[in-house]
Amino acid sequence: MLKITPIGKTLGARIEGIDLSKPLTRTDKAQILQAFGRYAVLCFPAQTVDAAQQKAFAKEFGSLEINVAAGHYTVPGHPEVMVLSNIIENGKAIGLADAGQDWHTDMSYSEPIAFLNVLHALKVPVRDGVPLGSTEFLDMCAAYDDLPAEIKARLEDLTATHDFNKFWEEMLKRPGTQRKPLTPEQRAAKPPVSHPIVLTHPISGRKALYCTVGYVTKVDGVSKAESDELLAFLFKHQLQDKYKYKHLWTQGDVLCWDNLWTMHNAVADYRPDEPRHMRRCQVMADWVFSPEAKAAATA
Ligand code: SIN
Repeated sequence: MLKITPIGKTLGARIEGIDLSKPLTRTDKAQILQAFGRYAVLCFPAQTVDAAQQKAFAKEFGSLEINVAAGHYTVPGHPEVMVLSNIIENGKAIGLADAGQDWHTDMSYSEPIAFLNVLHALKVPVRDGVPLGSTEFLDMCAAYDDLPAEIKARLEDLTATHDFNKFWEEMLKRPGTQRKPLTPEQRAAKPPVSHPIVLTHPISGRKALYCTVGYVTKVDGVSKAESDELLAFLFKHQLQDKYKYKHLWTQGDVLCWDNLWTMHNAVADYRPDEPRHMRRCQVMADWVFSPEAKAAATA
């Protein structure tokens, strides 16, 4: 049996008693799926996994994305494993240095959307004994639950447009960014897409607010004034501190989070000379909506 210990108010649990470099058993997988449905953010501490093992674990939960922004920031031979890092080696950045540094939900700009992120911490910046470069999460099921009934009714049949370029453009404005404007090929690979604003979670059955401030550009099928007014309300509502869990990393953590009911933000509170190095896989929400996933969660 895995040892599962809650670590946040609503989001977050630590899972011990498993070595992620080994294949998952059916029972482990069932317990992990149930834990995703309950806590959304799962930390597996003290893991030693190489890129192939990280990929094999992530693949248990859906197909893996090759990120449109990955460029050459991937582990050689593993295009699905992206390197996020501020480390410069031989004058060259080894990874994307500013990934996810504002509130967003990964791959909400895609079809299909994403289920999980799986990050392995190879190096965590620490200053005066305090870990830096934490990742913060917001609970979008709790945010949905708290919405006034009138807003819930309005949202029921609405969709919103998500655009990869929105977040990218914001990051381009930051001084010293390594990013370049997206090429026409990158834009074409990720055109804007629409998704329902209210999503029903395939494991827990709970409703989540799926309207991420990082990528949503408009509410579809309503006037610009109505879209602006609704988004201003939802963006303010979802960012409240009461929905937050902050993960302080320890080297060796494999942190997995469910993008279907969380938003996240990578906190940029460390300096260029304080190295941070993560490897990331992104798992799409294809398998998790299938009958097999339902069966696996109860195995
Ligand atoms: C991400 O948005 O996937 C990056 C999160 C992090 O590096 O903490």
